[in-house]
Amino acid sequence: MFVRTAGERDLEAIRALLVETWHATYDGIYGAEKVTEITDDWHSIAALRRRLTRPNSEFLAADDGKRIAGMAYAEADETGGTVTLRQLYVLPAFQGRGIGSMLLDEVIESFSEAKLLRLEVEEANEKAIAFYVAQGFARTGRTADCGGEGSDIPALVYEMPLV
Ligand SMILES: CC(C)(COP(=O)(O)OP(=O)(O)OC[C@H]1O[C@@H](n2cnc3c(N)ncnc32)[C@H](O)[C@@H]1OP(=O)(O)O)[C@@H](O)C(=O)NCCC(=O)NCCS
Repeated sequence: MFVRTAGERDLEAIRALLVETWHATYDGIYGAEKVTEITDDWHSIAALRRRLTRPNSEFLAADDGKRIAGMAYAEADETGGTVTLRQLYVLPAFQGRGIGSMLLDEVIESFSEAKLLRLEVEEANEKAIAFYVAQGFARTGRTADCGGEGSDIPALVYEMPLV
């Protein structure tokens, strides 16, 4: 498994990965219908394509030559000091094999100027929270609008200093 920058040709596979992993992770929390609604919006090919070209961002794929098993997307603020990890997803069948850690390490290496890495995580997603805490993140707050203004999805905010 190796981690590389994602490109246009990966978008179909990454969308399929996100749909599968979102249903596996969130159906029990939000309900399958809501998950379909969210993934159709946030993980449309058009939405993913916009992320490929956003300045000061990294869009990564974990690839074993046969399939994409994980993805990560992170973007820096205007100063470059704070990076937000917006997506980190590993296919259910590939979880617990170090792929999430590899993707996270590559995100950190990609933003050498950054001082802080932050993310939002669903409070009921205990596995992800355990993963982030094991990686060195600590809880610093909460948001009412996970993923962006108006989403109306509450989440916890976790941060890790990078200096
Ligand atoms: C959370 C996620 C990205 C982690 O990726 P992963 O590839 O499964 O995790 P790794 O195998 O790299 O785990 C690395 C370390 O994290 C810790 N960890 C991982 N899962 C854990 C869990 N459920 N409980 C406690 N610690 C855990 C362990 O310390 C592990 O180290 P180990 O190798 O000594 O066991 C992945 O499981 C995933 O995609 N989950 C579903 C989607 C999701 O919730 N994404 C995050 C949204 S905010």
